[in-house]
Amino acid sequence: MTKVSDPIKINKTIVKNRITMAPTVKFDYAGPDGKATEKHIEHYRERAAHGCGLICVEATAVAPGGRFWTNHMGLWEDAQIEGHQAIAAACHEYGAVVLIQINHTGITSNPECGPAIGPSAVPTRDASVLSKEMSIDEIHEMQRLFVDTAIRAKKAGYDGVQLHGCHGYLINQFISKKTNLRTDAYGGTDENRARFAAEIIHEIRKECGEDFLISVRTAGIEPDVATAINVAEEYVKAGCDYLQVSTGIEWEDPSLVEHDAPYNLICELGIRFHEHFKGRVPVSCVNSIFTPEQIKYLIENDLVDTVDLGRAILADPAICEATLEGKPYVKCLNCPRCQYGPGMPHKCPAAMKR
Ligand SMILES: Cc1cc2nc3c(=O)[nH]c(=O)nc-3n(C[C@H](O)[C@H](O)[C@H](O)COP(=O)(O)O)c2cc1C
Repeated sequence: MTKVSDPIKINKTIVKNRITMAPTVKFDYAGPDGKATEKHIEHYRERAAHGCGLICVEATAVAPGGRFWTNHMGLWEDAQIEGHQAIAAACHEYGAVVLIQINHTGITSNPECGPAIGPSAVPTRDASVLSKEMSIDEIHEMQRLFVDTAIRAKKAGYDGVQLHGCHGYLINQFISKKTNLRTDAYGGTDENRARFAAEIIHEIRKECGEDFLISVRTAGIEPDVATAINVAEEYVKAGCDYLQVSTGIEWEDPSLVEHDAPYNLICELGIRFHEHFKGRVPVSCVNSIFTPEQIKYLIENDLVDTVDLGRAILADPAICEATLEGKPYVKCLNCPRCQYGPGMPHKCPAAMKR
């Protein structure tokens, strides 16, 4: 039986246990220059110090126009590398493997940061405004931004990168038939819709080398699980080493029915991916995992390879030692709107009980 404390090899990198920190953006930590700050460094250091095996640093913009907000962290220029070096070093100091999630908002772009661009002209945040359909040249330029950001991530000392391929951002917009209406090589079949990200993966592999870890946080359903798995197969063929599975844009799959297992249907997406990719590519699940018992259940029953914690590890990173060593921790209160979200910094009621 696999235990949470068992190491796992991803590509050539050994992760010391099965607990991973999900990417969770810190809106109030960066300034308009997008540089990582001391607050970021301490935030990730603290999670590593509590024993988290793999940390995935938050969604980080590949271009100023792809930020969530004007105070969102980036890695779009060399001047931003230094702060990231400090984040990577702080995590490594405690033996954590550290990836950085790289992203562009695309159609959901914040007008204060840049224009809404995407695979097709579809309604944006303001439904009366359509996004600009990217030309083939613009697609290639955008892919280059992702690859250049990955090269900077390697220079900063990260063990790898994660493409943000879920939650409705640019890569997910290429996958979803709702936002990708193209009829060229980047639209239509599953293979074509996956091409935007698959080509990025291929280039990152070429530029950053065989050992550099490449992960995709992919939509586990888009619009159904089988299609989402086909898409992920394209990522794996291109060189993806590790899949973290979350939600996408559309959810239409009658095979997903409510159950009374100690995990929810979003976690089940990761479990379905694990069943499919078992022995080939490690898979992580996420969502509403708040207790050591849930983490152990998922690992000890071989339902996934790693368990991704978002709000639980924000609320109290001691959930890692609680799971690994039985120590006390403060449980996430599952607030309706996470208190770590924009405009509400440092008000996590669980964190305040620590
Ligand atoms: C404050 C906050 C920030 C988030 N930022 C990101 C992010 O940068 N990238 C991402 O893929 N998901 C992001 N998410 C989603 C989480 O990674 C995770 O999928 C979600 O919170 C569900 O997991 P949980 O129930 O363990 O929190 C964020 C969630 C929260 C609450």
